[in-house]
Amino acid sequence: MKSKTSRLDRFISQNSAFSLSDTRLLIAQKRVFLDGRVAHSIQQTVTRFTHISLDDVCLRDNKPVYIMLNKPRGVVSATKDAKHPTVLDLIQHPQKNELHIVGRLDLNTTGLVLLTNDGAWSRKISLPETKLTKTYEVTLSKPLNNEYISVFRNGIYFAYEKITTQPARLEILSEYTARLSLTEGKYHQVKRMFGYFQNEVLALHRVSVGHLSFDGLEVGHSRLFHPSTVYGHGEGAQL
Ligand code: URA
Repeated sequence: MKSKTSRLDRFISQNSAFSLSDTRLLIAQKRVFLDGRVAHSIQQTVTRFTHISLDDVCLRDNKPVYIMLNKPRGVVSATKDAKHPTVLDLIQHPQKNELHIVGRLDLNTTGLVLLTNDGAWSRKISLPETKLTKTYEVTLSKPLNNEYISVFRNGIYFAYEKITTQPARLEILSEYTARLSLTEGKYHQVKRMFGYFQNEVLALHRVSVGHLSFDGLEVGHSRLFHPSTVYGHGEGAQL
């Protein structure tokens, strides 16, 4: 998603009766405010979430929105689908049509899905170098053994992408269940990693993204969260 920033003078000329050349004077007269502070230069960069006012008239007031959803099985991680209910169908928020999904889950995978209208934030947390941990609970069709732990730690070669997966942490919970933590999100990654052992994934549930986890959020329900929560601070608020 493209980052929507623009220069202040361009924004004002496109969103008011003033021309590009009028803007310098408006700023010199301290008539323009950005996020409650007086603007000081026509070259200031404004984003789609900068609150911009001119002579006490609000020219832009977009709020970034961050929503976490406990996705049920059979709900598709898309904003539109002809066949299945989508994650957006489960969300009630006035800005829901601006949202995009950060890290999709397969149709039959359950658990934590994040949605936002803040492209800069979602791009940042999705960067490989951010190495945000995503943790899954997995139920397998065949018994697990300790070899999985070292193979997942060393990485598995994915011939299609010609890459070796990043070190992943596997905790065996019982003969057929495990908790897997990944710092990347390749296509069907969890199923393909267990596929290396010809072990079919029967159920897959994402329990956390970074430090963000459900904390009592029921299946099919959603709530707002603070974007810094994924890094270990911030608070959620019920939608
Ligand atoms: N890995 C998968 O295979 N499926 C998901 O939905 C998420 C991670």
